[in-house]
Amino acid sequence: MEWKDIYMHRCLQLANQGAGFTAPNPMVGAVLVYENEIIGEGFHRAYGGPHAEVNCFESVLPRHRQFICKSTLYVSLEPCSHYGKTPPCAALVIKQQVPQVVVACRDANSKVNGGGIKMMQDAGILVREGVLEKEALELNRRFFVFHQKKRPYIILKWAETADHKIAKPGPLPIAISNDLTHTWVHQWRAAEAAIMVGSNTVLTDDPYLTTRHWPGNNPLRIVVGNRVQPGKSLHVLDNTVSTWVFNNHLQCEHEKTRFIKLPESPQFIRDVLQYLHGQQVLSVLVEGGQQLLQSFIDAGLWDEARVITNTEMFLNEGIQSPELKYYKNGETADLKNDRIRIYRRL
Ligand SMILES: NC(=O)c1ccc[n+]([C@@H]2O[C@H](COP(=O)([O-])OP(=O)(O)OC[C@H]3O[C@@H](n4cnc5c(N)ncnc54)[C@H](OP(=O)(O)O)[C@@H]3O)[C@@H](O)[C@H]2O)c1
Repeated sequence: MEWKDIYMHRCLQLANQGAGFTAPNPMVGAVLVYENEIIGEGFHRAYGGPHAEVNCFESVLPRHRQFICKSTLYVSLEPCSHYGKTPPCAALVIKQQVPQVVVACRDANSKVNGGGIKMMQDAGILVREGVLEKEALELNRRFFVFHQKKRPYIILKWAETADHKIAKPGPLPIAISNDLTHTWVHQWRAAEAAIMVGSNTVLTDDPYLTTRHWPGNNPLRIVVGNRVQPGKSLHVLDNTVSTWVFNNHLQCEHEKTRFIKLPESPQFIRDVLQYLHGQQVLSVLVEGGQQLLQSFIDAGLWDEARVITNTEMFLNEGIQSPELKYYKNGETADLKNDRIRIYRRL
């Protein structure tokens, strides 16, 4: 039976619409094709909701239902084979009597990992794997890192001046990036499960760490450090958004704020990441300051870095930008006087 890349491209496009809503699940898109016509399509819209395959079958018009048993189903991730919040999608595909399924990549979740493909093959369905696999792995890179490395996907982010400073000396905060970039950063935030900062940043800048300039979910706010304590008048402790403060002394919870005590150790960041993995936190955007970012870099615990450089601002003195190691250049974009560079860890 024939198949075409173009329909998998459509699956990936659909899947991407779930960005920021599906974690800790992956983003998935599905398309049902009969004689070169799309007769159904769907994507996983939000965690806990129906999977892409369910939405795809449900979208088929009554007059087209007769063609399902002669169609090809394209799906950007292997259909699941286990009972989670919804029944297994591989069983649904079998029930619908689809003769051919084209899959971009296998599901890294140990509960699936080939189980969905085997289930469908055992039922006599022709399964073709690896179509646009690279693109599908990239789309769900957070999900794959989470399951393969047993930690959240880590994106480092900072704004620097043209002479590589992230802040002035002393306690006064400064704005380095422009308004357009600021809005884009809020879009970045909305796509991640959590945002993290160090205690100096909280005490100096008193940030909100929300997505108020972009529609979408507010990620979990995470603070690392002992000097952010209950009762302090800080935006991150305002209980408007779930906030976790990792420290060495205090374990308590009040409304949306949780203080989490972990032992003092040179491995503190690893311990924090292990805790986050255990709590199904799929990704973290680490927004500074210098000490926190550098400790991720030195431990080799990062996947992507997004560096914003204001090409017209010079400070001469101040806090030096973190220094990346073992990376390759990715995309670059210019927003007025800001240059945004994306790096990937090698
Ligand atoms: N331009 C930008 O993109 C940007 C972004 C954020 C912040 N900033 C600026 O950066 C400055 C703050 O940066 P900073 O480097 O001084 O401080 P920071 O990284 O924000 O905070 C340092 C504190 O965080 C905790 N911490 C960090 N790494 C840790 C680790 N590996 N293990 C345990 N605890 C850890 C410790 O808290 P305790 O001492 O409390 O235990 C440490 O003293 C501010 O001026 C802020 O305005 C700039």
